[in-house]
Amino acid sequence: MPSNQPKTNQLHFGDNLGILRKLPSESVQLIYIDPPFNTGRTQTRGTTTTTRTDAGNRVGFKGKRYDVVRETVLSYDDEFEDFWSFLEPRLEEAWRLLNETGTLYLHLDYREAHYAKVLLDALFGRECFLNEIIWAYDYGGKSKNKWPSKHDTILVYVKNPAKYFFNSSEVDREPYMAPGLVTPEKVEKGKLPTDVWWHTIVSPTGKEKTGYPTQKPKGILRRVIQASSEPGDLVLDFFAGSGTTGAVAAELGRKFILIDQNPESIGVISKRLNDAGVEFELKS
Ligand SMILES: C[S@@+](CC[C@H](N)C(=O)[O-])C[C@H]1O[C@@H](n2cnc3c(N)ncnc32)[C@H](O)[C@@H]1O
Repeated sequence: MPSNQPKTNQLHFGDNLGILRKLPSESVQLIYIDPPFNTGRTQTRGTTTTTRTDAGNRVGFKGKRYDVVRETVLSYDDEFEDFWSFLEPRLEEAWRLLNETGTLYLHLDYREAHYAKVLLDALFGRECFLNEIIWAYDYGGKSKNKWPSKHDTILVYVKNPAKYFFNSSEVDREPYMAPGLVTPEKVEKGKLPTDVWWHTIVSPTGKEKTGYPTQKPKGILRRVIQASSEPGDLVLDFFAGSGTTGAVAAELGRKFILIDQNPESIGVISKRLNDAGVEFELKS
């Protein structure tokens, strides 16, 4: 085990920014985050513009060019500006924490994905962009006056495009759409997922459901963790919610650090991990 990694799985209760700042640089292989869109408005309006004056300290980031892109993109939409002002210092920490083979998965919806893509290209470097994953589902009400929005977007960025880890051979395969067009052996093996993932949401009546409102399906996290980490690696989710990332990381033999500031989340995660017999240290 690398010396800069914790000895046990960790669940932290508190605002993620202060906790992230205490974690050692280049200690994490994989970061998956699914931040809430409304967070910036209530918490950070007017408090995070300091990140701009810190631009000169942004080792590995695009500094001045990023600031120009940021200014332009954020001038379009106040709501997104709030969201990004909240997220930006946390993404800077994410970048610092990733090791050279590491990958960031940022889970967003259609309101945020496009502005975020432009900003992340400028922040991480366009050459570090790996994929835009579309998670398509089919559940809930459908609007009649436009195409119903039934997908989320996961933006994937690597720390170092020359050294990142990606292993598609470990990824759960899926059924062919037209099995008659391929050999029986291929049908048996299933096909490698593309960047469009059809996957049901967490069923309101299924056994995966924890009761936490924004819970994401384990099947989505399985693919992420299988492809972008190896057994024994450290996985971080600092908007942990119901703890899906930790639960799946443990099932796949990875270590994890989870962070959430909502006491309900900490209760749900603790129960979920205890029920699964997963050992962890609670830090508050
Ligand atoms: C969309 S949910 C994540 C759901 C998760 N992916 C799952 O599968 O259950 C976002 C989480 O971020 C947490 N959160 C929001 N702001 C935070 C902050 N500043 N620090 C830590 N957690 C935060 C919320 O409490 C919420 O649980």
